[in-house]
Amino acid sequence: MGCNIVVLISGSGSNLQAFIDGAASGALPECTIRAVISNKADAYGLERARQAGIATDCIDHRDFTNREDFDTALAQRIDQFGADLIILAGFMRILTPGFVRHFRGRLLNIHPSLLPKYPGLHTHQRALDAGDKEAGATVHFVTEELDGGPPIVQAKIPIIPGDSAETLAQRVLSEEHTIYPLAARWFAEGRLRLDGKKAVLDEQVLPESGLAYNQA
Ligand code: GAR
Repeated sequence: MGCNIVVLISGSGSNLQAFIDGAASGALPECTIRAVISNKADAYGLERARQAGIATDCIDHRDFTNREDFDTALAQRIDQFGADLIILAGFMRILTPGFVRHFRGRLLNIHPSLLPKYPGLHTHQRALDAGDKEAGATVHFVTEELDGGPPIVQAKIPIIPGDSAETLAQRVLSEEHTIYPLAARWFAEGRLRLDGKKAVLDEQVLPESGLAYNQA
């Protein structure tokens, strides 16, 4: 048993911190964060990893002439760390179909919207512009379709008068820090899997937008 995790980041790494804290507190039993890999050398998340004594690496996408070569180098590095589960935590690169296929069923992402709403960027501003009453975040399996893989768990929060994209992002982030380690825990416990195009938890196919967090 035991689940080796490699976390991919591009920035602040607050979700990574939630994993580091979860592994330290026992909220992520069975899980070991083997490495944190960034495509940006100055990502603050690399510092978080170093402080926690976790191996780090930077593979800069600008050193490669095309996406395939970058993804091949990245996949090789991940494999060297013996990853059972790959966590995309604010990793802001679109991955090639080959990469996604290689890690199929063990590649998770968190996206700051109530998927299937607002795949892509600027999710909070788009929710505000649409006059939505709710925002949130979704953990999902990664498939070839951008932000389109089957959702696992989703946290919803109300949009309140006066919210800006920044205030909303902050409140959503704090929900992300709860639901992302939770999904990883299910995976590590052998309860969660990708079956074709569906996410399955405890042998039940999950609903289209994943489990609502308050039911999780
Ligand atoms: C998080 O809000 C995450 O959902 C988002 O980037 C932020 C990273 O924050 N991911 C995406 O937008 C992926 N398309 P963090 O670096 O503090 O974890």
